[in-house]
Amino acid sequence: MDLDFSALTPREAYRWMIGTILPRPIAWVSTIAADGRTNLAPFSFFQGITANPPTLMFVPVNKRDGTPKDTLRNIREVPEFVVNLVSFGLGEKMNATAAELPHGESEFEAFGIGAAPSARVRPPRVAAAPVAFECTLHSIVQIGEGPLAANVVFGRILAAHIHDEVLDASGAPDPAKLDLIGRLGGNAYSRTTERFELERP
Ligand SMILES: Cc1cc2nc3c(=O)[nH]c(=O)nc-3n(C[C@H](O)[C@H](O)[C@H](O)COP(=O)(O)O)c2cc1C
Repeated sequence: MDLDFSALTPREAYRWMIGTILPRPIAWVSTIAADGRTNLAPFSFFQGITANPPTLMFVPVNKRDGTPKDTLRNIREVPEFVVNLVSFGLGEKMNATAAELPHGESEFEAFGIGAAPSARVRPPRVAAAPVAFECTLHSIVQIGEGPLAANVVFGRILAAHIHDEVLDASGAPDPAKLDLIGRLGGNAYSRTTERFELERP
């Protein structure tokens, strides 16, 4: 079949994109408002984009009523965030934090998620996340307008916290020990338990 994306509604385009561009890594993003209230939410439009300087991006799209999500509101108030990575054991808690809570209500408190202070930024990190990247805001690029329009958030990575248990004997991250999950379409997720290697030409 062929799809003419110019004839699809944003909702239809979204379904085709998240059903085919996969597996997607998940950024579990903690932020803090100017008044000190914290927020935690998952985003799978997420990727590391360069190491020079160390930078990543994730995309809070506008809500269906066209208004920004709490994560974006907080980053505009306090331009710092932590990208926590999600292991299999944290999947259910991560999913719970995708619920739309009233603005200002913290997912850390609502779902009993342990927070640990960050070293270089104000938002706390998820204590149980095997990896947490502390970032300052580089820029926000808006693409589109209204419902589902994108706010691409670029962050400069200042520091990372990595659990010692996910490192191998040489000190490198071990994908088996990390056991990170990816998002597929709909409610489906993938694990990284089946892997293979290819020699680079
Ligand atoms: C695995 C997963 C991935 C998600 N990815 C995104 C995403 O890339 N962009 C987005 O805007 N919402 C995404 N969502 C939905 C948000 O997590 C959800 O709208 C959340 O309520 C936003 O929280 P906030 O308003 O506290 O920022 C995702 C949800 C899940 C469960």
